[in-house]
Amino acid sequence: MSARDVRADFPALHPRPDGVPHYLDSACMSLVPRPVLEAMARYYAEYPGCAGRSLHRFAEEVGTRYEAARERFARFLGRADPRGVVFLRNATEAINLVGQGLPWTRGDRVLISDQEHNSNLVVWHRLAEERGIRLEVVPLADDGSFPSEEYERRLARGVRLVSLFHTSNVDGRTLPVREIVERAHDRGALVLLDGCQAAPHRRVEADRLDVDFYAVSAHKMLGPTGTGLLAAAPGPLATLRPLVVGGETVEWTTVDGYALRPPPYRFEAGLQNYAGVIGAAAGLDYLDRVGLETIEATQRAANERVTRELADEPRVHLLGPSSPADRSSIFAFALDGVDSNDAAVFLDEGHEVLVRSGRHCAHSFYERRRLAGNVRASFYLYTDTADAAALIRGVRELLERVPATTDTSAATRGRATRGGSARPAAGSTRAAARSAPPRRTAARRRAGSAAGSG
Ligand SMILES: Cc1ncc(COP(=O)(O)O)c(C=O)c1O
Repeated sequence: MSARDVRADFPALHPRPDGVPHYLDSACMSLVPRPVLEAMARYYAEYPGCAGRSLHRFAEEVGTRYEAARERFARFLGRADPRGVVFLRNATEAINLVGQGLPWTRGDRVLISDQEHNSNLVVWHRLAEERGIRLEVVPLADDGSFPSEEYERRLARGVRLVSLFHTSNVDGRTLPVREIVERAHDRGALVLLDGCQAAPHRRVEADRLDVDFYAVSAHKMLGPTGTGLLAAAPGPLATLRPLVVGGETVEWTTVDGYALRPPPYRFEAGLQNYAGVIGAAAGLDYLDRVGLETIEATQRAANERVTRELADEPRVHLLGPSSPADRSSIFAFALDGVDSNDAAVFLDEGHEVLVRSGRHCAHSFYERRRLAGNVRASFYLYTDTADAAALIRGVRELLERVPATTDTSAATRGRATRGGSARPAAGSTRAAARSAPPRRTAARRRAGSAAGSG
């Protein structure tokens, strides 16, 4: 498929009265192509039934397609046994299922990095409060290298579960997961990988990797919002206590008791998001049609260009590894003298460039390094040269309009504000007011809260 054919399949990228949007926020959620929209519409139009409850033809049809979607995800993620695939709302729920589902003993240790998404952090804090688990936090270096010795040292203390991102949503680095899993297993620890930013971009061979739990959000890989899953190895999955129980999770009930169904069904309580799951599986077909290698090349080309053209700007500070090859689909950067939320509004209003700003649901990363937040552009299969050019143009214009302040720490290196929204740092609000054409005040309001949610 040509790049033009791909873009044509994404209605959100079609020209509109206010221009062609340059969507550079796929790490937050990807756009949805027409075949996914059609697959979902077909469910409602042609076989709108409840799987596994009624016996009529609609129910039979949806049951078959829902299980086919399970097999499709297992195949895509390299799991031989589809019974390890549990459909959930998102990766957050998948991580919670593991966290809240494992039978913990007070003092058990969980190892994470200091660059985790809140979804792979808050659940452990809660378990520390409620169940007495302990957190081992491995600090990661800015250059993208993995501190193997530190990892080994902490593993040696006796870790029950290693829970790490596969690819980071903050700066796009990918961890050496094969080595991580091997070493953890050698020490008897289970491994959970947060695959949110990896599965959409690279072939994940979960069985070959021998990873116990792999969490994914399908809405980052062309699926509809609110679709995700846990792709687990059958043995470890069977040890989890379901998060939610009720209809669909049980073999039978009496007024005195119940018997749970086997995995994965015991984890999928209540009527499921059939349209969403079936749509998400159509998203995988689309990804395979384009090819993950082609997608990798497309986003790498965009990342290389943006890096090449902006890295020389003295006021642009790149986050993470310097080579775009080591940052997957992400170009994260701070601008001296400009608050990241102001920059995002300016890029949107002035250049139709849609990026993410703030602290990217990784507050602890920013807090630990005393960073106020940054802009993140993320690329995917539909990113084209015009998108990259618009971002470069927008950043250059913003820097021209906002003179460098002598104290650049105010905007880019100031202490992250605690709790909720990252309010623009002093000075930068005025700077953006001078720079951003105030066409849409809603966007400006939005910027105030965007960073708080992540
Ligand atoms: C690395 C990573 N982990 C977890 C999540 C949480 O995903 P969701 O909100 O879909 O559960 C995200 C979302 O941005 C992410 O990038």
